[in-house]
Amino acid sequence: MQISSQEIRQKYIDFFTSKKHAIIPSASVVPENDPTVLFNTAGMQPLVPYLLGEKHPLGTRLADYQKCIRTNDIEDVGDNTHLTFFEMLGNWSLWDYFKKESIAWSYEFLTSKEWLGIDAKKIAVTVFEWDENAPRDDESAEIWKSMWVHNISYLGKKDNWWGPAGATGPCGPDTEIFYWVWESEFPPAGSTVWNDEKNWMEIWNNVFMEYVKDEHGNFNKAQMQNVDTGMGLERITRTLVWAPSVYETDIFSDIIDVICATLGVSYNENTKNAVRIIADHSRTATIMISDGITPSNMDQWYILRRLLRRAIRQWYKLGFSGQFLTPVIAKVIEKFSWVYENVAQKKDIILEEIDREEKQFLQTLEKWLKEFDKLVGGFQIAFERTGQKIDTISGEKAFKLYDTFGFPIEMTVELATEKWLKVDVEWFNEAFKKHQELSRAGAAQKFAWGLADHSDDTTALHSATHLMLAWLRKVLGNHVHQAGSNITAERLRFDFTHDEKLTPEQIKEIENYVNDAISKNAKMILEEMDKNIAKDNWVEGSFWEKYPEIVKVYTFKTDAGEIFSRELCGWPHIEETGKMGTFKIQKEEASSRGVRRIKAILVK
Ligand code: ALA
Repeated sequence: MQISSQEIRQKYIDFFTSKKHAIIPSASVVPENDPTVLFNTAGMQPLVPYLLGEKHPLGTRLADYQKCIRTNDIEDVGDNTHLTFFEMLGNWSLWDYFKKESIAWSYEFLTSKEWLGIDAKKIAVTVFEWDENAPRDDESAEIWKSMWVHNISYLGKKDNWWGPAGATGPCGPDTEIFYWVWESEFPPAGSTVWNDEKNWMEIWNNVFMEYVKDEHGNFNKAQMQNVDTGMGLERITRTLVWAPSVYETDIFSDIIDVICATLGVSYNENTKNAVRIIADHSRTATIMISDGITPSNMDQWYILRRLLRRAIRQWYKLGFSGQFLTPVIAKVIEKFSWVYENVAQKKDIILEEIDREEKQFLQTLEKWLKEFDKLVGGFQIAFERTGQKIDTISGEKAFKLYDTFGFPIEMTVELATEKWLKVDVEWFNEAFKKHQELSRAGAAQKFAWGLADHSDDTTALHSATHLMLAWLRKVLGNHVHQAGSNITAERLRFDFTHDEKLTPEQIKEIENYVNDAISKNAKMILEEMDKNIAKDNWVEGSFWEKYPEIVKVYTFKTDAGEIFSRELCGWPHIEETGKMGTFKIQKEEASSRGVRRIKAILVK
């Protein structure tokens, strides 16, 4: 079939618009308020509050394409199937339609000539078998049969249950739709996903979110019956055009052309793996930076750094040196600019960040490669002298590379694997732990964003961040925005864009401002309004583009009419500030370049 990824995306949006779904913008790849994950890995993640019952301003039927990042399988990128960045097409019912419509619409979209027009004879499905938490999903099977889909496999929780995305949250049985992988033949009679899995490709997952997993691991029946579906755009594109891998589709082909042209090589068996890694990582890095991440040494920021370093090293593996990423990234930006406004807007920042990181890393890399060669050269000498072959880099040596030269352990492992050597990572980890304890390095401390839970204490601290940000913007200027937050029931951590240390007087003033709001019992007022009206009214918010057209605005205002804060938000707030306690800042420090961090508590 001749179809482009852009056409598929548009058809999906048009189809669900015709089924009365509101189209919502993709959220940032960094989850705003979910401390359990570093990135959004599925379309439903930014919608968790709504799947748990919060009312969505755009109604009960939603659809979108969501930017997702999954880096667990980073080592496998380069093969035919693994990607670190992908876009997930999704549609949701928030206690609106359920299994019947969901399955019927998926089937219609896939098979109808007006939409994707794929041959129904090449479709197979799976449904949930049953287990101690939930019964067999006969209802979905009956719906499939009513549409003449009889190729049904019943599978257990491992295959036919989805979620929660983090440790707790909405989840449920799912039904997955598979497509036959061979263009020129039909599936033989009796071939099912259960007995012939390798010849079937999963293309779409419809999850029936009727359960909520709690912190004790129990699956409780939810009050709502929601639907969450997800279809990877890259995967469906590849499947429809029968390409051997996603790299041979319009999503990647012109990026690969630029890489090959810059490098002066052709895309062949020898270069394929490296070129694919560069292409994949360039897409992911571009999207990360457009969503506000810059290369650094922790969490999301470190993953960005690692992706860029991996991409750059591929170039070296092919025998080249020097900078090369700019034209590749420019191509990626050009492609995404049509889809994500913020990529177009941040074009220069993306190019600058990557150029800076590339320059820096190239200097380090030369040094590292020399050190590594010296180490491996030593093995050879030892072998010649003693006849004993060394096949493992000891944890001690790996640690020395880290401690003296800054070699990250993953890099040592990657370089070692290329030379058929192993690394004693366990020993390294032990040494690393000890080293951290000794130096009290904060590097192991996980910093995640968002609210740890929705308890009263957490919610009060969250409201305190709004009050605090209002002061920061009023006094320091409009360049100040939230850059991240992490809130538990005990304390808040709040990052904001500003590049100077606050003075002790300023810290006192912030405390006074927040405590003033508390003593005057400023009350929370929630309004839903058009995004543009909010913007025109100086409502504070970062990442406007990720909010829908109708936004929630939280204002803290006293009965006497004094306004303390007015900010865009999607998360719960305290109704009245009066009982919050006394606000106290414990620390103000640098977080990363251009970002400061405040740690604070509420004393009861
Ligand atoms: N959330 C489901 C998935 O990611 C649809 O497969």
